[in-house]
Amino acid sequence: MEPTPAAWSAADEFLAATLVGSDPALEAALSAQRKADLPEIEVAPVGGKFLHLLARISGARRVLEIGTLGGYSTIWLARAIGDGGIVTTIEAEPDIAAIARASIDASGVGGRVDIRVGRGADVLPTLEGSEPYDLVFIDADKESNTIYLDWAARLGRPGTVVVLDNIGRDGEIVNEATTDSKVIGTREGLRMLGHDPRFDATALQTVGVKGWDGIALAVVV
Ligand code: DHB
Ligand code: MG
Repeated sequence: MEPTPAAWSAADEFLAATLVGSDPALEAALSAQRKADLPEIEVAPVGGKFLHLLARISGARRVLEIGTLGGYSTIWLARAIGDGGIVTTIEAEPDIAAIARASIDASGVGGRVDIRVGRGADVLPTLEGSEPYDLVFIDADKESNTIYLDWAARLGRPGTVVVLDNIGRDGEIVNEATTDSKVIGTREGLRMLGHDPRFDATALQTVGVKGWDGIALAVVV
């Protein structure tokens, strides 16, 4: 096969059909998101299940998500933490948070999800003083990635799992001349993960239904 975006998508769809399967609650969350004309930038099905499995493997009970959007990844994470677990998820736009709230409640895990409405940089300081988070998923405005990583370290503990979405960006991360603030923010986040002694990190590029992108995975040291 030629490695074209169409071929990546077809292979990704096969993986999702084979390993994830149909899931009415998640599909309903996506239709609600599409109906509201929200951008189709939620994680891919295989990516959502990857987050879910990471949360299960790490035994996470307290999850922090920065960037709720329609609640698709939120539902995947909330399903992983068991009764008594909590996903605190931050969404900047009240109208979007309302759509997520409805989808999350309809999926049956509403009791495990606390949506905080506001900009991450404003909401994160209000979470200080709570028990540490076991897993942090950062998937919001890329310009603020270093701020979010700093808070992930501060609100975590040694062993906290940190996942940073969208580190590939069509390979633009190596374009030093870019003026795209999202690419610059992504690269700054990656450099922080490489240099900041609070993290030990790696990253994986992905291709699939979301194009050429990837995630960084880190542990708080
Ligand atoms: C964008 C943001 C995302 O979180 C994503 O998964 C894909 C794209 C964006 O802002 O371009
Ligand atoms: Mg993303």
